[in-house]
Amino acid sequence: ARVDKGGHRHFMAKEIAEQPMVIGNALRHYLTEAGDDIRLPGDMPDLGQVERLVLVACGTAYYACLTAKYWFEQLAGLPVDVDIASEFRYREPPLAPGTLAIFVSQSGETADTLAALRYCRDRVAGIVAVVNVEESTIARASDLALPIHAGAEIGVASTKAFTCQLTVLLLLALRAARARGRMDAARLADLLSALRGLPATLNTALEIDAPVREVARDLSAARSTLFLGRGLMYPLALEGALKLKEISYIHAEAYASGELKHGPIALIDETLPVIVMAPCDALFDKTVSNMQEVMARGGRIVLVSDAEGVEAAGGGTFRAITMPVTDPVLAPILYALPAQLIAYHTAIAKGTDVDQPRNLAKSVTVE
Ligand code: G6P
Repeated sequence: ARVDKGGHRHFMAKEIAEQPMVIGNALRHYLTEAGDDIRLPGDMPDLGQVERLVLVACGTAYYACLTAKYWFEQLAGLPVDVDIASEFRYREPPLAPGTLAIFVSQSGETADTLAALRYCRDRVAGIVAVVNVEESTIARASDLALPIHAGAEIGVASTKAFTCQLTVLLLLALRAARARGRMDAARLADLLSALRGLPATLNTALEIDAPVREVARDLSAARSTLFLGRGLMYPLALEGALKLKEISYIHAEAYASGELKHGPIALIDETLPVIVMAPCDALFDKTVSNMQEVMARGGRIVLVSDAEGVEAAGGGTFRAITMPVTDPVLAPILYALPAQLIAYHTAIAKGTDVDQPRNLAKSVTVE
């Protein structure tokens, strides 16, 4: 079927706006009717028995895997190795027989990811693909394919596929947490309830458009930018930087906030915008001290946080993008929106081709 822009100026804008709906679709597919339990296909390997996970992907899908590592390890105590497919395939990594390999790919056709999958074929206990295109090569080459239900994604820069990948990976981590006795029924019920509420929260978050435009006007004049995040916000900082590079051609680098002092702080001056992704969670105080280090050196901060975080960040000069509140476990899905919108509006301000950025392909089927 032909996909149109549905009244939006770009496919990317449409796909960003569709996220509440498609995440709702993914949740409907993977939750019971009552929404109170996770429903996976019968041939899904038992995540209580698996000894180790290896997650492999490219680009944005790789950052979804990196986020999932935090979820599987923190929530389920399940050790995870994450790798970029082009590195994994040639490194000849030793794989323990109790390993489950998960390949994440929007298109299901990425050559490096497929080659990494084939490398795993006789070396692991099972191969699961998390894909958007159900009839894809990667889906067919795996033991089990879990569709993310994002619908056709046309914009070269991935948006809704990313948040749907995150949603499915989080559900797997929650299933693993229960199967491994790491999470009680009440906490699971809490998180599932928060997940069911997420489409509505995302709709609210889409209203941050105006402050994002202001930030974007400023960013569009920058030569380089720095994204910072801790914990679950670190992979998201990487994704935010990737989005900005891809469509606005502005150099962007992401660091774990705690690494600031080990190098990137040398870059800080009044010309370098620093985007800090930080909901007000257990690590927020540490983020505030990172912000102070940046502000003391004249750095220009954009703080993406909730109202409590913006308040707690206290004095100092920074711009704020205020987000609705969600359970910290779900924050990467919610905070993907400002990451995407910052890149989108910066690209608009610069006048670059949002849907067809130079030199990039939607799916890289050759090495
Ligand atoms: C290309 C696209 C990226 C995408 C990556 C992986 O580089 O431009 O947006 O994240 O491939 O694609 P896949 O289809 O495997 O998720």
